[in-house]
Amino acid sequence: MISPALAGNVWFVGHIAIRRADRGDLPELVRALGQEHYFLDRLNSQAIGHGVLLVAWQDATPVGDVYLWLAAAEERELRAHLPDVPLITHLEVVEGRRNRRVGTRLIRHAERYLWLAGFKQVALGVALDNEAARRLYARLGYAEWPHGQLATTEVLFHADGTRELRPELCRIMTRRLDLD
Ligand SMILES: CC(C)(COP(=O)(O)OP(=O)(O)OC[C@H]1O[C@@H](n2cnc3c(N)ncnc32)[C@H](O)[C@@H]1OP(=O)(O)O)[C@@H](O)C(=O)NCCC(=O)NCCS
Repeated sequence: MISPALAGNVWFVGHIAIRRADRGDLPELVRALGQEHYFLDRLNSQAIGHGVLLVAWQDATPVGDVYLWLAAAEERELRAHLPDVPLITHLEVVEGRRNRRVGTRLIRHAERYLWLAGFKQVALGVALDNEAARRLYARLGYAEWPHGQLATTEVLFHADGTRELRPELCRIMTRRLDLD
């Protein structure tokens, strides 16, 4: 469980501020990034301690987000090989703001946040065709695990509130959290 002190943590890097989202942020999040049902679902999960939604802001506008999955992983292989290891999921930066290190800052803040919460390792899944994201993670110290590719299920939240489950083959990458 993330301590209340961490929940209020705001990280400023240049003109970007990164902090945990709360319900009051929903209208701005949806305006900037769409995906209302996704963000509602994640804010609900956060409220019961299953995860943390971090948002990068420039002025009063969200420019990116990442969700830290703290609950047990849905995939059996992840639970078996990486028990109790949090997952970095749904990293995204709004189009038009990419390639300015916002993604890098979100990842670094996520790592710092998890490290302060006591975690020693972090993991994530990258779709096989997402070479740009794989390259970014590799540059930031993430290495592919030795257990091969993993069949995961991507949950798509449609505008009408329905969900679609879509199979997605991923590389799993991990990094030790050794920020001290
Ligand atoms: C993946 C994603 C989050 C990266 O966000 P970003 O803010 O563009 O990331 P960064 O700016 O930190 O780094 C990305 C690239 O910009 C380059 N870059 C960043 N700042 C730079 C600078 N000041 N000067 C030159 N190059 C720079 C990085 O080296 C990297 O280049 P490369 O891909 O050509 O090797 C973003 O592209 C995105 O939202 N993609 C769609 C969703 C997605 O695929 N998410 C990942 C799911 S696993």
